[in-house]
Amino acid sequence: MFALFLFLLITCFAKEIEETLDAADLIAYYGYPVERHYVTTDDGYTSEVQRIPYGRDDRTLDGCSKRPVVFFMHGLFATSYEYLFNLPSQSPAFVFADAGFDVWLGNVRGTEYGLNHTRFHPSEPSFWNFTLYDYSHYDLRQQIEYTLEKTGQKSLFYVGHSQGTTVMFARLAEADAAWQSKIRIFFAMGPTAGFMKPFMPFTLLETDTLQKLIQFVLDGKFGIMPVQIPKSITSTIVDFCSSKYLSFLCTAGFHIASKLEKLGQVNASRIPIILSHFPSTTSTLNMLHWMQIFKYHELRRLDLGEQRNMMAYGQKEAPKLDIGNITAQTILYFSKDDQITDEVDVRDIIMKNMGPGLIENYDLDHFTHLDFAIGLRATDEVYKPMIYRIYKELKMKGC
Ligand SMILES: *[C@@H]1O[C@H](CO)[C@@H](O)[C@H](O)[C@H]1NC(C)=O
Ligand SMILES: *[C@@H]1O[C@H](CO)[C@@H](O)[C@H](O)[C@H]1NC(C)=O
Ligand SMILES: *[C@@H]1O[C@H](CO)[C@@H](O)[C@H](O)[C@H]1NC(C)=O
Ligand SMILES: *[C@@H]1O[C@H](CO)[C@@H](O)[C@H](O)[C@H]1NC(C)=O
Repeated sequence: MFALFLFLLITCFAKEIEETLDAADLIAYYGYPVERHYVTTDDGYTSEVQRIPYGRDDRTLDGCSKRPVVFFMHGLFATSYEYLFNLPSQSPAFVFADAGFDVWLGNVRGTEYGLNHTRFHPSEPSFWNFTLYDYSHYDLRQQIEYTLEKTGQKSLFYVGHSQGTTVMFARLAEADAAWQSKIRIFFAMGPTAGFMKPFMPFTLLETDTLQKLIQFVLDGKFGIMPVQIPKSITSTIVDFCSSKYLSFLCTAGFHIASKLEKLGQVNASRIPIILSHFPSTTSTLNMLHWMQIFKYHELRRLDLGEQRNMMAYGQKEAPKLDIGNITAQTILYFSKDDQITDEVDVRDIIMKNMGPGLIENYDLDHFTHLDFAIGLRATDEVYKPMIYRIYKELKMKGC
């Protein structure tokens, strides 16, 4: 919340065309080919997945008859737009397309790209009856299977940020060898599979209280609903900050923010665009699941309490999603300056528990959690190294 408040404060600039475009229109606006795909899951949610089939100069890779696929999945409160926030020479979706890849941008249910269901309308509580496990088990899994089917490929490269890594950790923990082989390299930015430290207000509730709340929500007694910062708030601040007379307050806010939050990496003139597409929406139930993840220091399915666990999972405890099961090649990008998932979380939870799947990890200086998506240094320090790593993989093992 604090970070968000600062973000709002530093929003100082007038409306740009990019603020009004959705992801696919933005891609077209910058002169890239774009396709909209719709993937319907087994449990009835339809989400839009955007594709940039090739870059502006139509580059191909030596020795590859088809462009290798790179699939991106966004974080909590974000959408695929998080890979498009900066200029084409900086944003990962464009940078990867121009490097010769077939880029696919996934979206989960409940965001503005995932509001359709075969039976439920977003105004009904049952529409919001999901957590990150459902993102992982349905949206992520089926969007990846769809992408492979459409492109006629056997495997793809995956890039996730924050919750976009969590859903892949959860998926791979459950997946058999055949499914794991669909992921050639899993690049995890700000990787999140559990937390060591208490993080207010997420860890404020007692375990029992948390479980009671979850049961109330499941019973439809309260709170199955979207969790969302009203757009009216963000847009009011955008307008306020555009004012000739008041914008000095925003400039002051920016200076405070860059000191406190090390936001030096963010291009201030992109902030109105970022705020027009972030934060997006999730469910109350997902926030409660996140609170459990903070408490349990590991990934589990939603803990419903002993009785309901027996009914839902056939065991008293919520099943653990064991990242020790992961065999897909995984590469981590993290930073001790990440306020959400810091170096300790990554070392003590992910690196300690992962098996031979973990092949490399990069501890970066001065990356906040959001910098992995919007920081200007991310292009040279994260995205381009990933591209060279993929080129190396293709050279060694073929397309
Ligand atoms: C989603 O539902 C709306 C209204 O029912 C409809 O107009 C729209 O075409 C649907 N979109 C997809 C992708 O199915
Ligand atoms: C939510 O889903 C669970 C099963 O996953 C079901 O038992 C419960 O009735 C659902 N609640 C609502 C309000 O749809
Ligand atoms: C993952 O590991 C657990 C043990 O920690 C095991 O019970 C489970 O069957 C494994 N799952 C897969 C898909 O291998
Ligand atoms: C910041 O974004 C603006 C356009 O919104 C662009 O003109 C400028 O070059 C960008 N600055 C950097 C350092 O990338």
